[in-house]
Amino acid sequence: MMLLLCLLAFFAQDHDKPPERAAPYYPTPQVVVERMLKLGELKKGETLFDLGSGDGRIVVTGAQKIGARSIGIELNHELVEQSRGRISKLGLATLARIIEGDLFEQDYSSADLITVYLLPVTNIRLSPVLEKKMKRGARIVCHDFEFTEWNPEKTEVMEDTEGRSHTLFFYRR
Ligand SMILES: C[S@@+](CC[C@H](N)C(=O)[O-])C[C@H]1O[C@@H](n2cnc3c(N)ncnc32)[C@H](O)[C@@H]1O
Repeated sequence: MMLLLCLLAFFAQDHDKPPERAAPYYPTPQVVVERMLKLGELKKGETLFDLGSGDGRIVVTGAQKIGARSIGIELNHELVEQSRGRISKLGLATLARIIEGDLFEQDYSSADLITVYLLPVTNIRLSPVLEKKMKRGARIVCHDFEFTEWNPEKTEVMEDTEGRSHTLFFYRR
């Protein structure tokens, strides 16, 4: 009986675990956003996911400049509200949307391109998840922190408008 109670407590606790904070909010400069989408070969009509979408700038750019179906996943409620407001103000609601939730728990089977700006420790946990959830041939572009388990097909170093250096990594599943 005691063992049963312990097991019940263990599974209840695991189930209630809050989502892991995969990175703090730190936005990608717009000039880097545009380079990420170019490096990721994003085309009109394709599906883009930004994992931890912050203020929605990658999602908005993918929809507005490229005409891609663009989806952001974001845990922070204020950032979700801010990016939804921006999408609606720009009239992009048919192409762009934000899911309020945990990036580890989503379905990425429709993704053509996934963009990632998270921490190295998060990328270690994320790569097997993406390997399982993404279709073959789908692309990934990372900002600054690579997936150490994978070999990038391309790597680019660039400067933003304030002279700060950024490294981008392109992978194909
Ligand atoms: C470094 S910021 C990147 C923002 C945006 N992608 C960009 O490049 O401008 C990381 C974002 O991930 C969000 N985040 C952290 N953990 C998350 C999780 N488990 N699920 C969804 N979003 C998460 C944070 O709230 C933050 O907005």
